[in-house]
Amino acid sequence: MISRDTIDKVFETARVEEVIGDFVQLKKAGSNYKGLSPFSDERTPSFMVSPVKQIWKDFSTGKGGNAISFLMEHEHYSYPEAIRFLARKYNIEIEETLQTDEQKEQADARESMYLVSEFAKNYFHEILLNDEKGKAIGFSYFKERGFTDEIIKKFELGYALDEWTAFTNAALEKKYEIEFLEKTGLTIVKDTKQFDRFKGRVLFPIHSMSGRILGFGGRTLKTDKNVAKYLNSPESEIYHKSKILYGIYQAKQSIAKQDNCYLVEGYTDVISMNQSGIENVVASSGTALTPDQIRLINRLTPNITVLFDGDAAGIRASLRGIDLILEQGMNVKVISFPEGDDPDSFAKKNSEEDLKEFLENNAMDFIQFKTSLLIKDTANDPVKKASLIREIVLSISKIPNNIQREVYIQECAKIMDISEEVLFKELAQLSRKAQKQGQQNAHQIDSGFRGVKKETQKIKKIDQQLILEREIIKILLLYGNNKVDFIDYIVEYDDEGKKKMVKEVYENLVSYEIYSHLQEDEIEFTNDIFQKIYFEIIHRLNQEEKFTTETFTQHEDMVLGQAVSSLIMDEEKYVLSDWDRKEVVVKSKEESLQKLVSDVIYRLRKILIVKKINALKDEMVNLEEEDDFENKRIENLTLVKDYNNLKILISDKLTVVVD
Ligand code: CTP
Ligand code: MN
Repeated sequence: MISRDTIDKVFETARVEEVIGDFVQLKKAGSNYKGLSPFSDERTPSFMVSPVKQIWKDFSTGKGGNAISFLMEHEHYSYPEAIRFLARKYNIEIEETLQTDEQKEQADARESMYLVSEFAKNYFHEILLNDEKGKAIGFSYFKERGFTDEIIKKFELGYALDEWTAFTNAALEKKYEIEFLEKTGLTIVKDTKQFDRFKGRVLFPIHSMSGRILGFGGRTLKTDKNVAKYLNSPESEIYHKSKILYGIYQAKQSIAKQDNCYLVEGYTDVISMNQSGIENVVASSGTALTPDQIRLINRLTPNITVLFDGDAAGIRASLRGIDLILEQGMNVKVISFPEGDDPDSFAKKNSEEDLKEFLENNAMDFIQFKTSLLIKDTANDPVKKASLIREIVLSISKIPNNIQREVYIQECAKIMDISEEVLFKELAQLSRKAQKQGQQNAHQIDSGFRGVKKETQKIKKIDQQLILEREIIKILLLYGNNKVDFIDYIVEYDDEGKKKMVKEVYENLVSYEIYSHLQEDEIEFTNDIFQKIYFEIIHRLNQEEKFTTETFTQHEDMVLGQAVSSLIMDEEKYVLSDWDRKEVVVKSKEESLQKLVSDVIYRLRKILIVKKINALKDEMVNLEEEDDFENKRIENLTLVKDYNNLKILISDKLTVVVD
């Protein structure tokens, strides 16, 4: 565990504009910086960084947060990875809290496994290049397949001698421990016997993004159908098949530079394409693509081109892969190879130029691809055509970016010869369904109430409440610690029974003012995150602790932290201009703050009172069957009357406030 001290030091030292500046071109815009969103394809900058508040906000996707959360979003680091990255960047020494013996052992064990794997890679490579048998069997196999010396060295290919313990003995001799040879699967231990897992196979070492050896793929040289063609390292503490892509280490620079990643199935596809001069290529190693693997690519580029073998097998699984890529907000293209060819064989048959040309001319976007796959059986069959359209719209609905979704809808409309309107309707329906299922996160708070155009009255009302709740939280966060002269109006009646409002001025902390009002109506926030933030602010208030916005933007709860920075940045962008629009004459900040606070509180209270009144009325409708019907009715009516009076009072106050 990284010590709290180190984390604090990282937060103190790291400048969000510097951290982000390494990934996004930022330009000064007033007191903020602006740039093109790194999370979407956009032409006009909607990505903002506030050096004063040390937060960022991406208006194209709704994401936002601090330096750490930027690294987590953009680089897909875990929280500790992001801290470590920043510590390295700013030369901060990482202090580990006292690890338990168990944790220490685990970390040591992992390190030992890396070391053993590194040794094995060098050993097998050495055997392939310099051992007599290694050269005669392993090296000549690769040569037969047309691999050059250069490419063999680049991928550090190897060979394991066809002997039971050649490797294990060599490792033990070098003082590597059997425990870690076994844990990495390099040695298989049975009772008292040990033998080499990869005996007699040529080896493809699997590197992590940063170049550490995680495991191996071993290809047999036998043509015996009973022998598995590939034998891979078993899952271990360092090798997780679903989290790694073969070739990512060798490909990463080219992927970033070409801004595209080719995804193939096999080790030999990666190598052959490299040999043909295409270096931005990785393999899923024959398994179905996973979100972790896609995120790995997303660190480098938002564009993936999936290459398929000519045969139809696995196409269903690949369709799922395409949806997964879309879900990650990435762009996907598809290329299928001629019947009977895979990228390896195709690269061998064709010149470098022809291969490159083929890739360029045959890349389809996913709509074209899905359509081309399925359109054969939809000809003249309206039912099948409808279900194809649904399939495509379903894929489109996974795309998080609005503009991109719209572009694809337009394309789909053209290809399928159907109106865009119908497709948008279908899309809206799917999005609504997804939204219902999806968990609430910061992104949804942002986009939630912009949502779909045609909402029912009811949803509108809830939205109003949400907007006010959001406003209150914003005020609490930004101005909670401010002392302001508040004005209350007390209703008095003069001699003629005429109502008048008597002004009373009192000083109060903004947060107390809000708290006492909300307290009065026992208000609960409808939004969980708002409720959480509110509770925490109030808790701190009651402890007489002051709080700063950093308390929240750097909150351990990432969702909460993101929601808060999102709110604060919105304030920058919208609220101020809103004030101008409403032509509230801002005489002094304090006066306007007083107005803002009172206005929001009264409006929220009014909504809630109306809600209560309606609930009471509803109750009365259902009263009839009960025995003490009459008493209940009177009770309810009195309550309704009280609430109505309160509502009038609040409405009066509201008019005075807004004056
Ligand atoms: N694979 C595997 N285990 C198997 C078969 C395949 O792990 N028994 C994985 C390997 O990562 C392999 C990929 O699936 O690279 C694709 O399989 P295949 O096309 O059969 O292998 P190729 O890489 O094309 O190997 P070769 O060209 O030598 O036949
Ligand atoms: Mn092959």
